Amino acid sequence: MIVEASCCLNFDGLLFRFRTDSGSFDLAVYGLAVSVLVGVGSDSTGRLTVSSANCDASVGDLEVTFHGGTRYESINHRKDRRKTDRKTVASVLSDTHVFSVPLFLLSVSYQYDPYVVFEFPLIHPPAIGASNMEFDCKGEFYSVDHRGEFPFTPEQFQLHDQNRMVSLGLSQSSANSAGFAYHSAGILRIRLTDSMIPKVSPIRLNTTSFESFIPELPKRYPGMLMLVDLFTSQQPLITFQTDNVTAQAFGAAKVYVILPNATLAPVFVLDICASFSAKLFMSDLKLTGFMTLNNVSLNLASSELGPFQTKSMENVIRAGIHLAVLPEVNAKLKSGIPLPATPEVSLVNPVLKVNQGFVMLATDVSYSP
Ligand SMILES: *[C@@H]1O[C@H](CO)[C@@H](O)[C@H](O)[C@H]1NC(C)=O
Ligand SMILES: *[C@@H]1O[C@H](CO)[C@@H](O)[C@H](O)[C@H]1NC(C)=O
Ligand SMILES: *[C@@H]1O[C@H](CO)[C@@H](O)[C@H](O)[C@H]1NC(C)=O
Ligand SMILES: *[C@@H]1O[C@H](CO)[C@@H](O)[C@H](O)[C@H]1NC(C)=O
Repeated sequence: MIVEASCCLNFDGLLFRFRTDSGSFDLAVYGLAVSVLVGVGSDSTGRLTVSSANCDASVGDLEVTFHGGTRYESINHRKDRRKTDRKTVASVLSDTHVFSVPLFLLSVSYQYDPYVVFEFPLIHPPAIGASNMEFDCKGEFYSVDHRGEFPFTPEQFQLHDQNRMVSLGLSQSSANSAGFAYHSAGILRIRLTDSMIPKVSPIRLNTTSFESFIPELPKRYPGMLMLVDLFTSQQPLITFQTDNVTAQAFGAAKVYVILPNATLAPVFVLDICASFSAKLFMSDLKLTGFMTLNNVSLNLASSELGPFQTKSMENVIRAGIHLAVLPEVNAKLKSGIPLPATPEVSLVNPVLKVNQGFVMLATDVSYSP
């Protein structure tokens, strides 16, 4: 426990001074009837703790002034709220802007979807600086069913936007843990059939279409449909460089011919490696961007039809990505992904910056209960 304040008073305009190893801040409370002992720290699991004993209060308004002079005022005027437990003390604190965002850290994990959990234990107790409060979290995605050893070394990074109320950083290793989690969960796989290939494509999943790539295929299985199981062979790798996000995907394609009696005959397996780059921007409270293909390569891993060249198939896949995949992805990225907001809390003037090893979102927050 690093921050502690106690008082037992019935007052208006009460000032608490919180002191820590790294700085101090004042908490002014108006319209207060309180009997409280508050401690802010982190426990052994990295959970932010706001603890209290003998706590009973009603608060009209709160104001926080950091030592450096930055001032955040609560615009909340709710009266006569009884604060009787640990959680409600946290919500008194959350009435100020400063505390309203970090409060979600009271829970240290978040089930992102049925497969993946995002866990963000505090590594240190919150650091209180001259004009800010810093929360240092680990930030790891993991698979619910197959939690593996985290195969990355976390990058150290420094957030340095002094002009916004809140700055959030996500390191490259946190982003990569998401790819690792989805890969471990075994859900990065798709079964492609001919009906999923766009009608305009001259190449079908039909052995006849593959005559120029693998003459042996239609010879052995004339005019039959095919099926492809596409899956990641290792976790995707994401790299953050200045203004550039690169994603490398490593996969395999198991290709089958569908025999007339519906049996699947395996014919060959390809290893696939693809590298994409993206630029990301904030626009109208949405995350937007633009993606390009750097590179794609195919290698024959095994074949029931004898060896064959993969170069011309690689060219067709590259063209397919340019003609069919990227326009669709870029249309989605252009229309943008809205940032989370609630009716009470919205982001104001957010900026996004991709740096070496991490991505940072800095924003002001508007809070109107
Ligand atoms: C595969 O393509 C050939 C040539 O276009 C066609 O004759 C044949 O019917 C197709 N096979 C199937 C199962 O659709
Ligand atoms: C982004 O980085 C990748 C990997 O270093 C590189 O291949 C690509 O050309 C870069 N893209 C831009 C637009 O700088
Ligand atoms: C389907 O046909 C193939 C080849 O004609 C044959 O080898 C296989 O045993 C058949 N499978 C079934 C389930 O009838
Ligand atoms: C592009 O593919 C080639 C051939 O597989 C590979 O050697 C190279 O490292 C790849 N480059 C990138 C940027 O992924």
